[in-house]
Amino acid sequence: MKKVALSSDHGGYQLKQELIEYLKSKNYEPVDLGTDSIESVDYPEYAAMAAKAVLNGEADCAITLCGSGIGISITANKFKGIRAAACFDAYTAKMCRLHNDANVLALGGRITTIDRAVDMVDIFLETEFEGGRHKRRVDKIDKIAAESWK
Ligand code: RB5
Repeated sequence: MKKVALSSDHGGYQLKQELIEYLKSKNYEPVDLGTDSIESVDYPEYAAMAAKAVLNGEADCAITLCGSGIGISITANKFKGIRAAACFDAYTAKMCRLHNDANVLALGGRITTIDRAVDMVDIFLETEFEGGRHKRRVDKIDKIAAESWK
């Protein structure tokens, strides 16, 4: 995963900027979708931008941030094909890739230090999906989502 879209609301802005610099230093290609300041904005719009960037192939995966990581992950998960994981530590970052094939990492800008964020981002970007029985379960997510709209 080389091209990484990043988006945030004001609560995640500062950490997003730091992560963009970190990703550049590691030779990833960050795609900054905003926001561009700490001025208050609505997180659903930024979650949608990250989700669309992944679904249309503009990025291989996305990192999206709000204050807690909660609102932005809830919104991103409204898009079929998006598996956004709100992660808080190395374990959740690892498991969301291994077992859930997460394609969006959601972080809380107000609760995550840069050191912890970098740790989670490294794990998220470097861990392969395990497949096997987990593929069957992930496939069921889309099936259940399709049924829920009938
Ligand atoms: C904004 O104050 C805050 O509600 C938002 O960043 C996020 O934490 C929502 O889930």
